[in-house]
Amino acid sequence: MRKKIIAGNWKMNMTFDEGQKLTSEIVNMYKDESISDVEVVLNVPFPHIMPVKKLIGKTPRIFVGAQNCSDQDSGAYTGEVSAKILASFDTDFVILGHSERRQYFGEDNELLAKKVKKALEHGLTPIFCCGESLEIREAGTHLPNVKFQLKQSLFDLSAEEFSKIVIAYEPIWAIGTGKTASAEEAQEMHDSLRKSIASKYGSEVANSTPILYGGSMNAGNAKELLSKPDVDGGLIGGASLKSRDFLEIIKSY
Ligand code: G3P
Repeated sequence: MRKKIIAGNWKMNMTFDEGQKLTSEIVNMYKDESISDVEVVLNVPFPHIMPVKKLIGKTPRIFVGAQNCSDQDSGAYTGEVSAKILASFDTDFVILGHSERRQYFGEDNELLAKKVKKALEHGLTPIFCCGESLEIREAGTHLPNVKFQLKQSLFDLSAEEFSKIVIAYEPIWAIGTGKTASAEEAQEMHDSLRKSIASKYGSEVANSTPILYGGSMNAGNAKELLSKPDVDGGLIGGASLKSRDFLEIIKSY
């Protein structure tokens, strides 16, 4: 049985007070709702990790994550934060390969392969992001294009290592645009990625790998997206910044 995961990506948002308020609302609403089998991950800016973790306390199935980590453990890398340091703060997940980091910070598949290894080495669960540009989508080469991202960054992992990975398919043209991939488009890509994983690691690993969809998922479209057999959750940006919207997405699973 694959995990169902609804992950929020706060990106570079939320002051301390805003983050505390949002987290408290989510934890309290989650406790009240009879949501039994969905894991919730709050991927927050680094300074929020400890205070958010404290608010989550022992609430089951709610976890905290970071949005990046270094490919190094320590050293003269001003401004960087390592998986080793994140693990020392009991961070559970880390988003790696988000298109915004690829675009603004030049992260490529080779660097991301190193970051994934580091995250796994220190016990963090990578949420590995992949997705195509609008140009690639319009050219109709989106399936091989995204498969290539996966192969370049992840297919040197052992089967045991890969079994710890969460994948997030985020078509770049749907991120922050309000233009969501259709449920059929999401299913087509998720099915393609799962088949690619199966050809490399076998069907058992492929069938246990959660593949999340990200890109303008909201309370209005979540139910249809999450109804697809190979969509195992969502990676939510804007809609994760309001507790009610975020909880609606969780409840629509
Ligand atoms: O990582 C999730 C993010 O890229 C999606 O953003 O605002 O389109 O839900 P948004």
